[in-house]
Amino acid sequence: TPEARHRAIDSEPQYIDAPMTASAAFLVLAINPGDQALETVRAVLGSTADLIKDIRGRANGETFTANVGIGHRVWLTLTGKAEPRELTAFREIKGAKHTAISTPGDLLCHIRAASTDLIIEFEKILLEAFGDAVIAVDDVAGFRYFDGRDLLEFVDGTANPDGLDLPAATLVGDEDPDHAGGSYVVVQKYLHNLAAWRAQAAETQEAIIGRTKFDNVELADASEGQKSHKTLCTITDEEGEHDILRDNMPFAVPGRGEYGTYFIGYSRHLWVIEKMLERMFIGDPPPLHDRILDYSTPVSGATFFVPPRQFLADLSD
Ligand code: HEM
Repeated sequence: TPEARHRAIDSEPQYIDAPMTASAAFLVLAINPGDQALETVRAVLGSTADLIKDIRGRANGETFTANVGIGHRVWLTLTGKAEPRELTAFREIKGAKHTAISTPGDLLCHIRAASTDLIIEFEKILLEAFGDAVIAVDDVAGFRYFDGRDLLEFVDGTANPDGLDLPAATLVGDEDPDHAGGSYVVVQKYLHNLAAWRAQAAETQEAIIGRTKFDNVELADASEGQKSHKTLCTITDEEGEHDILRDNMPFAVPGRGEYGTYFIGYSRHLWVIEKMLERMFIGDPPPLHDRILDYSTPVSGATFFVPPRQFLADLSD
């Protein structure tokens, strides 16, 4: 029916399911005070789809996608629409030893591309359009490392859902019809202590991650005591296992001794990612935190909602 077709168009997601790429950028922006700034941001977000089309058209067939997320602080004033049910600011999670800190950010641009030139071109045009309506809080350039490994040298992203599991795990559905087709996204920028990590035997590292290093084979879950990262991040309840989509990227500035992982997780339910963070930082059981954190320190943490395409387009009306 025409009505069903319309609903489908209204809930067409942004590029959540885009493949992992050789390059990515994570651009976090804060919106400056004042109505003029909000007006500008609405106009620019409303035309983002055209900018994406423009870059794709010039990309000689190479992959290019960009997703825009909106944070809790500005949601209401910016969009004038009710908030997605679970959207809040990133809630700090304080364990006995490690803390997942919460940092500012009103907009997230998650850009994935086959090459960095496309990303820079997009960011340049986008930021020129925003002008002084926003300030950049952070801009991290991620790169693909050997075999899709993170800088801890483990293959990262293996357990991601695919096929029909991917939309089921990442897209809001009937539980929040006004926001169907959208996705919660959480980002955290982690800096690694590589010297300390490298001082560990490969077997120790494998027990921390829960997979073998060279061939990426899953190790058995520990039923009690210290659990691996993989096990702590497996969330099951009576409905079964709750997956999220991760598109982590390594980033580095070797001259400054900076080596990190930019964590990004998309989920249909924000609580699933929060639960993973609780199990990592507080521990399961407490105080047995995820030992990945003894070598990885989060220096940012922010939550956004990536609305369907039509929602963004409507902002400029
Ligand atoms: C699995 C690395 C942070 C959620 C993994 C794996 C690696 C990894 C190597 C195993 C391979 C795979 O399935 O992808 C890292 C690094 C992090 C980090 C280096 C930051 C320093 C996080 C955070 C979350 C998370 C903050 C969630 C809030 C998951 C999940 C899995 C996973 C859900 C798959 C578990 C399963 O096997 O079902 N991670 N991760 N990770 N990680 Fe992380």
